[in-house]
Amino acid sequence: MPMIAFLVRDKTIAIIGAGHLGTAVIQALYGRGHTKIIATRRESSGSGLQGGTHLDYLINTYQGIESTTHNVNAVQRSDIVILTVKPYVIEEVSTQIAQAAQEKLVVSLAAARSLCYLKRYLDFSRVARVMTGVFVGDEIAAYTCSENNTQEDRAAIRYIFGSDAMEVPEELLADRTWIACDTGLIAKSLEKKISVLDLNPEQARLCYAATLEAIGKALRCGMYEPEIFSEVAGKGSFTAKLHEKMEAEGMYTLLEDCVRMTLNVCRK
Ligand SMILES: NC(=O)c1ccc[n+]([C@@H]2O[C@H](COP(=O)([O-])OP(=O)(O)OC[C@H]3O[C@@H](n4cnc5c(N)ncnc54)[C@H](OP(=O)(O)O)[C@@H]3O)[C@@H](O)[C@H]2O)c1
Repeated sequence: MPMIAFLVRDKTIAIIGAGHLGTAVIQALYGRGHTKIIATRRESSGSGLQGGTHLDYLINTYQGIESTTHNVNAVQRSDIVILTVKPYVIEEVSTQIAQAAQEKLVVSLAAARSLCYLKRYLDFSRVARVMTGVFVGDEIAAYTCSENNTQEDRAAIRYIFGSDAMEVPEELLADRTWIACDTGLIAKSLEKKISVLDLNPEQARLCYAATLEAIGKALRCGMYEPEIFSEVAGKGSFTAKLHEKMEAEGMYTLLEDCVRMTLNVCRK
C-alpha cells in the first residue's frame, strides 16, 4: 500500500448528509476496511428501516462507524470532510461548518456548485470537488482541486473514491455528472423494456446484467460504440430497422438534448 494511502487509513472522515450518495461513499470506504467515519443527517424526516432512523441503519450495518445530527461536531472530530448534501443545501452547511473545517480537506460531491462558489463559504479550507455515481466503490470518479490542495489531498481523494479517479478541469465535472444521471436513466429504460417482455423479470435482469457486463468489458478492451453497434445491427438486420425507427422518431436527438441540458445546468 502506498505510504499516503496508509496515512489516510488512520484519518477520520465526516460524511455530511449521508443520503443515497453519502451512504454509497460509506459502503465503499467500509468495503476497504475503513471504519473511522462519522455520518451526519438532520433526520427530521425520521426515515429509516423498521422504524429506526437512517443513521441507526448506518451504525448497525457498518459496525464501528459513528453518527450524529451535529455537523459541526462531526467536522471538529474529523480530518477530512465530504459534503454529500443536495446542491441547494451546500450554502447552509458550508456556512455552518466553515470554522470547524479550517485547514481541512473538504470534498464536495454536489453537482453544479463550483469551487468558486464553495470557497465563498470555505475560504480557509482546502476545497476539492468530486463527481462520481451511486455505485461509488465500482465507479471511476472525476475530481478537480483548488490551488491550495496538496498531493496528500489528491492521494486522499483517490483513497476514498478509487485509484482510477481522474483529475480533470472543473468544467468536465459536468460531463461526469451526466454519466451519474445516466445511471438512473439506464435503469429506468431497463425497467420499461423488461415490463414489456414476457420473460420472467428475474431472468430478463440476469440476461441484461451479463450483456451490460459484456459491453463494459468490450469498452475496456478498446472496442468503440460504432463497432459494437455494427456487430449487432448489420445492413438489413432487424436491429438496424429498430435504429432507423428510433432515429426517425427523434429519440437520439432527445438524448443528446438531455446531455446538453445537463452540461448547461452543471457548468453555470
Ligand atoms: N444520487 C446520485 O446518484 C448522485 C450522483 C452524483 C452526485 N450526486 C450529488 O450528491 C449529493 C447528494 O445527492 P443524494 O442523491 O445522495 O441526495 P439525498 O439522498 O437527498 O442525500 C442528501 C442527504 O442530506 C441530508 N441533509 C439535508 N440537509 C442536511 C443538513 N443541513 N445537514 C446534514 N444533512 C443534511 C438529508 O437527510 P436529512 O433530511 O435526514 O437531513 C439527505 O439524506 C447532491 O449534491 C447530488 O448533486 C448524487
